[in-house]
Amino acid sequence: MLPRCAFSVCHVFVLVLCLSSAEDFDWTKNGHSSFHYGTFPAGFSWGAGSSAYQTEGAWDKDGKGLSIWDVFSHKKGKIQRNDTGDSSCEGYHKIKDDVSLMKELKLNHYRFSISWPRLIPTGIKSDHINEKGIQYYDELINHLLESKITPVVTLYHWDLPQVLQEKYGGWQNISMVNHFNEFASLCFERFGNRVKYWMTFNNPWSVAVEGYETGEHAPGLRLKGTGAYRAAHHIIKAHAKVWHTYDTQWRGKQKGLVGISLSGDWGEPVDISNQKDIEAAERYVQFFLGWFATPIFHGDYPQVMKDFVGRKSVQQGHGTSRLPSFSPQEKSYIKGTCDFLGIGHFTTRYITQKNHPSARSGGSYFTDRDLAELVDPRWPDPGSEWLYSVPWGFRRLLNFVKSQYGNPMIYVTENGVSEKMLCTELCDDWRIQYFKDYINEMLKAIKDGVNVKGYTAWSLLDKFEWDEGYSERFGLYYVDFRNKNKPRYPKASVQFYKRVISSNGFPNQREVENWRRKAVETCSSSNQLLAAARRKSKEHAEMPKRNSGVLLPIF
Ligand code: NOJ
Repeated sequence: MLPRCAFSVCHVFVLVLCLSSAEDFDWTKNGHSSFHYGTFPAGFSWGAGSSAYQTEGAWDKDGKGLSIWDVFSHKKGKIQRNDTGDSSCEGYHKIKDDVSLMKELKLNHYRFSISWPRLIPTGIKSDHINEKGIQYYDELINHLLESKITPVVTLYHWDLPQVLQEKYGGWQNISMVNHFNEFASLCFERFGNRVKYWMTFNNPWSVAVEGYETGEHAPGLRLKGTGAYRAAHHIIKAHAKVWHTYDTQWRGKQKGLVGISLSGDWGEPVDISNQKDIEAAERYVQFFLGWFATPIFHGDYPQVMKDFVGRKSVQQGHGTSRLPSFSPQEKSYIKGTCDFLGIGHFTTRYITQKNHPSARSGGSYFTDRDLAELVDPRWPDPGSEWLYSVPWGFRRLLNFVKSQYGNPMIYVTENGVSEKMLCTELCDDWRIQYFKDYINEMLKAIKDGVNVKGYTAWSLLDKFEWDEGYSERFGLYYVDFRNKNKPRYPKASVQFYKRVISSNGFPNQREVENWRRKAVETCSSSNQLLAAARRKSKEHAEMPKRNSGVLLPIF
């Protein structure tokens, strides 16, 4: 990355002043590249995140039941290199170590999820409650609070109990609504005296589309054209039910908030003067974020989804729309069930109109939208294939949320960037750049009037990245997965993020450039430590073990 600071300090100030006043925080103007120096509102909450299956390991310890991800990852050919989350980061055994890392970062909050089958092994509360699972989360929550770190808890980060999948078909079945509500009630009962921020679901888009339409994720079903819509329908109902349960039974005593974490890429029209592209880009966002947010804020699916899926379903000979509908009672029950909105955002696409003739395509979530996604080859893409760094898309998405859903309270629940496994480089300059620019666009969005209250860097640690296994690393901390103790090493981005947190933003160009330089300088010592540890473990593995004078083979 090129250093920005080639000007004298005086020039820099003039430039900064010009940029901020000229831009005037009008997000519709194309001021993509200007950086805004300034701080976040007092009390802004800085955090990092994780999820149970991705980090805990201990997949079969202390009475935990199987989840759909345990089963899916054990099937050959589903995950890169057949990796599993069996031991992952061993987070289950490392509460103290990980809370120390959070303290080092000076986090205000930590976002994690509760594994449903760790608490209720079959998923059905009346069958059995696993007290050891409760103890684990008790301990984690208590450690966080002792360290003045606010726990932000997700109830469902994709690890459905396997029994519920086998018995009922998982989210294809309406009975999940009550089972999930029972699980949520148990969490409110046992942890709600200490946990005040709850999220029902994480990224239900992925659960529905990748779990039940493309089959890339657990449970791996390919119910093209119907599976995702049906799963989403039940998830939205389950979310609403849990919100009402909290509202009527727990809010009075516990005084917490219940939201949902939705993910959404931004869709920008390829040609901003072409009405068809503008509408296609709008459809992209409505089929992504709007699919879940519109029922929750307005009581029903986006009109454009109803129109497109409805029309195509009829053309394909279906009697009714493949998109299920809500009754009037359901609409009013679902509307307004969100105390805050969690937003997970990573990337952006250019969108253009593209017809997918109904009869030929047979119907799928993807062809229902009648659009094509494009990327600019100049966008940086350091890690995951789908993840291009396009910071300005973040500001646009946040402004979209403000204008569409009545300026709700927002917590950014995920934002970050990966690198490939083979890269053992701790000097992650590109991640610093990504965080710097995305966090800055969030600051601009706040100046636009978007009500963002907190930010969660994704993720605290490298971890199991779903169907990509351990091949993509999102962590601020590097985890050496080849060592069975799973030691953690800080990447340079730890130093940078720490400074952003302690300054509550970006005080001025000189300081921010300084943080960055220092972060990259100090990481070379962590690099050496990691390299030395690697050499040691290699030597150890290569050294023949002696046992009463007999040489033993090493496997
Ligand atoms: C969203 C998911 O919620 C999270 O689990 C995953 O690690 C990130 N996307 C990155 O792919």
